[in-house]
Amino acid sequence: MWPGTVHRSFECGVREMINDQKVMFSAMQATGDLTLGNYIGALANWVKTADDYMSFFSVVDQHSITVRRKVSDLRQNCRKSLAIYLAAGLDPEKHCIYYQSHVPAHAQLAWILSCHTYIGELNRMTQFKDKAAKNESNINAGLLTYPVLMAADILLYQADVVPVGVDQKQHLELTRTLAQRMNNLYGDIFTVPEPYITKVGQRIMSLQEPGRKMSKSDENPNATVFILDDKDTILRKFKRAVTDSDRTVRFDRENKPGISNLMEIYSVATGQELSEIEAAFDGLGYGEFKLAVGEAVVKMLAPLHERYEAIIQDKTYLDNIIKSHAEKANYFAVRTLWKVEKKVGFPVHIR
Ligand code: TRP
Repeated sequence: MWPGTVHRSFECGVREMINDQKVMFSAMQATGDLTLGNYIGALANWVKTADDYMSFFSVVDQHSITVRRKVSDLRQNCRKSLAIYLAAGLDPEKHCIYYQSHVPAHAQLAWILSCHTYIGELNRMTQFKDKAAKNESNINAGLLTYPVLMAADILLYQADVVPVGVDQKQHLELTRTLAQRMNNLYGDIFTVPEPYITKVGQRIMSLQEPGRKMSKSDENPNATVFILDDKDTILRKFKRAVTDSDRTVRFDRENKPGISNLMEIYSVATGQELSEIEAAFDGLGYGEFKLAVGEAVVKMLAPLHERYEAIIQDKTYLDNIIKSHAEKANYFAVRTLWKVEKKVGFPVHIR
């Protein structure tokens, strides 16, 4: 249910506007092309559950500049990501799909929250420690305050549920802490969100080093399958996937990480249980199995590819969504922001 059907009084908060529908918020960075891991672990789950909530999905471009990258790449990746969200099946009639940087309230609330966050809390974040170690020449303040901006993303929309991978759990905990801290200090401002740690597809591993998670930025071009890879590329990458010297298709994460990873991908792509897959490929070689996995992934992504092509070529359609959804998001976000600004003592807006 969107503005137009909701109460338009400026005095009323997000909660009242949406008639107590539960809110879901999630987001992905636009730091590179989205991967099969992003699709299975995040996007596909969003699409499945989004209709049960009032849902907001953001392309968080402001988070992306914590690491230095090429300006034109970022802009292009943002557009691609948004088109992929739509092509994957998020429905712009029902859900809000927008760029973080188009909604100023994110940065504004992040400032206020950062004045309520202890440096010690941020220093403890494992993702900060990892990223700082990887970017020694650019340990900027944004890298440290990243989780505060993330908390602002979530709290602005009074989100009840936030689907995230397990690597984001600590950030969600901090978000909850900040929400509770603010509520204790100023009275009831924020909904305290529940993380929804998605289980399926959380461990889509590199096809080349199955001990590591599949990553956007892997240097080995065969390690990562991208959502937009074409058919031949996908088949080739699976064909080259690292397996083991045993010859049975059997699930055993510890001793057969490569095959187990492929089985998990195949299971998601076809809906078959691991035991069914073991039975189906009993006595067949790895070559045949790898081909089958590649083909299943191609088939799973084919409808997305088709929609993506149509969407990315329709400039007017995409631009309209970008504009109108930024307005939608602003409409909600500003209400939470003003409420917070009032509570912390800023002079009220004259309207
Ligand atoms: N930090 C998240 C990631 O790297 C992305 C993100 C930013 C996010 N803001 C969010 C996820 C809010 C969920 C909710 O994956």
